[in-house]
Amino acid sequence: FPVENIRNFSIIAHVDHGKSTLADRLLELTGTIDKTKNNKQVLDKLQVERERGITVKAQTASLFYNCEGKQYLLNLIDTPGHVDFSYEVSRSLSACQGVLLVVDANEGIQAQTVANFFLAFEAQLSVIPVINKIDLKNADPERVENQIEKVFDIPSDECIKISAKLGTNVERVLQAVIERIPPPKVHRKNPLRALVFDSTFDQYRGVIANVALFDGVVSKGDKIVSAHTQKTYEVNEVGVLNPNEQPTHKLYAGQVGYLIAGMKDVTEAQIGDTLYLHKQPVEPLPGFKSAKPMVFAGMYPLDQSEYNNLKSAIEKLTLNDSSVTVHRDSSLALGAGWRLGFLGLLHMEVFNQRLEQEYNASVILTTPTVPYKAVLSSSKLIKARRAVQKNMIFIDQNRVMLKYLFPLNEIVVDFYDSLKSLSSGYASFDYEDAGYQTAELVKMDILLNGNTVEELVTVVHKDKAHSIGKAICERLRDSLPRQLFEIAIQAAIGSKIIARETVKAYRKNVLAKCYGGDITRKMKLLKRQAEGKKKLRKIGNVEVPKDAFIKVLKTV
Ligand code: GTP
Repeated sequence: FPVENIRNFSIIAHVDHGKSTLADRLLELTGTIDKTKNNKQVLDKLQVERERGITVKAQTASLFYNCEGKQYLLNLIDTPGHVDFSYEVSRSLSACQGVLLVVDANEGIQAQTVANFFLAFEAQLSVIPVINKIDLKNADPERVENQIEKVFDIPSDECIKISAKLGTNVERVLQAVIERIPPPKVHRKNPLRALVFDSTFDQYRGVIANVALFDGVVSKGDKIVSAHTQKTYEVNEVGVLNPNEQPTHKLYAGQVGYLIAGMKDVTEAQIGDTLYLHKQPVEPLPGFKSAKPMVFAGMYPLDQSEYNNLKSAIEKLTLNDSSVTVHRDSSLALGAGWRLGFLGLLHMEVFNQRLEQEYNASVILTTPTVPYKAVLSSSKLIKARRAVQKNMIFIDQNRVMLKYLFPLNEIVVDFYDSLKSLSSGYASFDYEDAGYQTAELVKMDILLNGNTVEELVTVVHKDKAHSIGKAICERLRDSLPRQLFEIAIQAAIGSKIIARETVKAYRKNVLAKCYGGDITRKMKLLKRQAEGKKKLRKIGNVEVPKDAFIKVLKTV
């Protein structure tokens, strides 16, 4: 394939505006997949993606298309739309020269439309605006055209109006890709320079790296070096993604494909790494800005004997999702585990679900927290969340874009849901990191009969300490079994008690069912009760079953 007949592009959009549906139509139109089959989100390969109907991982497909007697190779990289996965979007864009910006003809420009447009704009890519769902009764493509012109400064006559569902005008999208997106700027005569932009782990074949070739050629049998580890490998297989892996003899500069080179250890294939030929070193390509985790949660095996299995599952999954950070951690209540950093709550849930579905793991995930920096020394919804307004832009008469500075802690748990329900589903939301700021935060202890429970120490805002403390005390009250004496559950800031619950005294008499008589049976029951107690943790004189911690710490 001559380079001038190659186009590398991506589809970006707000969630549910129809990227995956458009991708399905493009795959059909180019004969990549059969039209007769019931094609629904072909590129959404993960079980979690099909179940939730969202794209989590960017996927790649190579399409062949004939236009005016010339054959073109179009590499399509599908991307996620949800705010938590914008890291995947920027990674995909580094392998592209242009994007299709899909906007729903009914909903118009939304938060991630704006965020994704700027990712593409900053990467200096050609942007083709596509207005989708023109078949809908309430569709108003002209209004959306005007929004696009006003917000992105793209002339309205550049918009292509389509229905991805019915296939209307989708052919025009392919023509625009050829006409408006430039071929990649690459040099095939130069030594090999390949960017690893994604990788997955296959139990039998080891690491499968998705690569974009910027210079040179790579063939089966070549010796290649990783710029990151300096290790040398022999290439066992190269190919294109069609969208399933299809081996080829070679991959040339300008192409996007996959490469298998006997990397057995998940740490060997760093995303953002550059591969070059043995003895022909090149300047590595700029890697990716490493993702910045925003939400942290503890993860522990349900059963400690599963520790090693869970460890290897987490390692394999983080290879495929390098935006998750992993640190070893241990908890008195839950045993050895990890502290994981995620880009957002949905990201955390999806990671957890993938662990369970793809690796059969049973885990305990604790309530998420956000990072703080501590200095040791001596109106609605918006106001309640401690936010400061930064600016306001009218997209058109009916829609306004507001920028606020929020404490991250206020938006990680249920902000998105509250915003959606307050606005009857009309508002959309996106965020980026604005750095650390000083705040009135306090350390809150939870006490059982006066003794601190280390597992439950948290950092909270001064104004919210009372309500959070009360909620934890209530959860603990409901999950602690009664004991011989009364238990006082208290939330305290320093020496000041801010909430209290009580568990009344009671003793489970295991002998109640034995009507005198058989001493061996009595002994057996008492022994069993003693064994049961081993699973308890003693805080002062209070015995706390592991289960109670799990109930308080776990996300609901
Ligand atoms: P994510 O992968 O989660 O980011 O979503 P997406 O942007 O890929 O959206 P998807 O293709 O899954 O489409 C979302 C919904 O819109 C689905 O129910 C589609 O059937 C529907 N849809 C997509 N295109 C059209 C269209 O042209 N017309 C109509 N009426 N519905 C459409």
